[in-house]
Amino acid sequence: MKHLKTLLLVFTISVSLSSCKLLGTIVGDSKDPFVYLTFDNPDTSRSMVVNYLVSEHTTEPLNLFYKSEHQISWSNVPTEIMEFKGVLKTKYSYSFKNLSAGTKHFFEIRNENDEIILPMHYFKTLPNGGAPVKVIQGGDLRSKNILADVAEGALKKDPDVILIGGDISYANGKLTNLDKWDDWFKAMEPVMITDDQRVIPLIVAIGNHEVTKFGLSKKTKAPFYFQLFPQNGDKTFFTRKLGAHSVLIVLDTGHIYSHRSQVEWLTQQFETYKHMKNKLAMYHVPLYPGHRKFETRGSKKGRKHWMGLFDKYNLTAAFENHDHVAKRTYPLKNNKKDPEGTVYFGDGCWGAGYREAQPERWYLDFVGEYRHVWFAELTEFGADFEAYSYNELIDSATLH
Ligand SMILES: [Fe+2]
Ligand SMILES: [Fe+2]
Repeated sequence: MKHLKTLLLVFTISVSLSSCKLLGTIVGDSKDPFVYLTFDNPDTSRSMVVNYLVSEHTTEPLNLFYKSEHQISWSNVPTEIMEFKGVLKTKYSYSFKNLSAGTKHFFEIRNENDEIILPMHYFKTLPNGGAPVKVIQGGDLRSKNILADVAEGALKKDPDVILIGGDISYANGKLTNLDKWDDWFKAMEPVMITDDQRVIPLIVAIGNHEVTKFGLSKKTKAPFYFQLFPQNGDKTFFTRKLGAHSVLIVLDTGHIYSHRSQVEWLTQQFETYKHMKNKLAMYHVPLYPGHRKFETRGSKKGRKHWMGLFDKYNLTAAFENHDHVAKRTYPLKNNKKDPEGTVYFGDGCWGAGYREAQPERWYLDFVGEYRHVWFAELTEFGADFEAYSYNELIDSATLH
């Protein structure tokens, strides 16, 4: 029986590998290279990772040329080339460190013949002082070309960074679903890249639709998540500073790491950043669901292992996802309404279809059936939140 299972597993893996090579060849209309930005450490004011993807396996260097707003001449920085395991793609990346905060940095990509294959784009490092930081947050996207339309009202507010709360392209960690990622990057291009060629960086949490049951290691359980968004090695939980006043703690609701296994680390992060005015968390499965039952397993685990710490360290707000409605809770502490408590925003419905909202729940101050994203402006005085569905403002809250 054991042998049969092993044989079946080997067969499934080889079939998926061969069919995805074929897919990679078929997906020839993707716009090469896809360019996008991530962070690989907490200091978002001095670092940035520039990533670009091409639809072939190649070792040809594609040269990244860079200059800051204070420089006149370009320098060629040595990108890391990563052959995507299992799919026909190559990823290039360069991790910038020691940049100056709150400044513009320009880049373009040229091939070996010095031909420009990505014209000049730029990014802005986040501030490290008291200047405001503007974010948009959404989850449950799917690879639909409505993502820019749904976020239009929020994108007009000129965000500095985009927070993604899991269930990204719904590829389910399957290498055969490469086309979903191609479509996702295409749909995200007008979200991430402004009309004046600024690229807005991403901070990405993991959801259940990034993961396959069949992976043998952490990285093969979520092959695209780890290879596309290397944010903290094989860890799916990490912290990012958003200005001198705010911190974002990204958590994994049991997809690669259990809730319980992150408790010690979470306590350390709260201790390190307890002086911050705005303490935010982002994770996939909600503690306070807007659609599913309150007693859903993942929600219970979140409340059991994390809620006490959220209460103890006065978490300002949490961005929850997974339930596919728009919602905002009352401020909550000790699982009760409390004006000093945490507000839970959600519930991840950027591109995925909305589900039935549950307005009778005691903890919900606002809930509705909308595709939407949240916009937040974080300052040294507090945080303002607005939910947009396409161009319509559907909810707002001020936490000062
Ligand atoms: Fe979802
Ligand atoms: Fe989900």
